[in-house]
Amino acid sequence: MSTVALHDGKRLWEEEGWCILHGLLPADEVRLAQEALPDLFPTAEEFAEDRDPARNLPFRVDSHSVLPAFPFESGVLNRMVLHDKVIDLAQEFLGLTNIRLYQGMVSAKYSDGALDDEQLLHVDYGNHTLVVPRPDLGYQHLELFIYLSDVTAETAATRMVSRRLTTGVPTERTYLSLTEYPDLYAAEVPASGPAGSILAYRPDVYHRGVRMTAPGAARFMLHVSYKPVATDWLGSQAWPGAAEGLAWHRFMQETNVRQLTMLGFPEPGHPYWNEQTLRGVSARYPLLDMAPWRAASSGAGPS
Ligand SMILES: [Fe+2]
Repeated sequence: MSTVALHDGKRLWEEEGWCILHGLLPADEVRLAQEALPDLFPTAEEFAEDRDPARNLPFRVDSHSVLPAFPFESGVLNRMVLHDKVIDLAQEFLGLTNIRLYQGMVSAKYSDGALDDEQLLHVDYGNHTLVVPRPDLGYQHLELFIYLSDVTAETAATRMVSRRLTTGVPTERTYLSLTEYPDLYAAEVPASGPAGSILAYRPDVYHRGVRMTAPGAARFMLHVSYKPVATDWLGSQAWPGAAEGLAWHRFMQETNVRQLTMLGFPEPGHPYWNEQTLRGVSARYPLLDMAPWRAASSGAGPS
């Protein structure tokens, strides 16, 4: 994906409210992420053949009741959420370098899944912000779906409505009824794309999930959201709550300064760091290379 294409995507995201980015993520890394999915979810075949009815049941009741979250047991999924290309994209779209990851989840949807998979048109900001979206620099937030399977109209591509058509809808109308807005339902477009594509959408774009129409199929995707730093009213997950878990400690063995900064971990040179905190954090995470933090702390001496 060239810079020009990223700029085109940003313009679409701003004007239409959404865009699909192709070819941004390396195919081999997408394949590795796909290989991590069977540990988390039934495969399409396992679900279609109902090999494990108890495992399948939640997806028949509410496909969002099973939403494994970052930090994942799988390092490849963690890397995907904090991939350099994804961070680059978020910084480009938000127009800022100082941003934070505030959501990382993975979902699955199946043929013959939950009736609730057929959603009303809605905006997502209701559970991403305490207030209402403000689209200016420094206030906008970015929602991404990273496709881990091919997504078509028949395999439940999210239906999107251009923002150009919804300027007259009052901000507080987070759900739109079919009877009141039939023209918007008629104007919806499937956000189709092969595995590895990224759907970027604004918190104020109307969209909806739909049921699978293809038989024996499954759809897997990562839900990844970024926001500007110091926007306490925006959020979804809080990373410190996961920091006693094994998944977090495994993640800390293979991460880096840029990824950790996205999570709110104090950057090298931050006033938080002194001899005592450098020593303590190093003891807490013995395999984390603390050299960048030590090097940036004047009082800590050479690493
Ligand atoms: Fe939504």
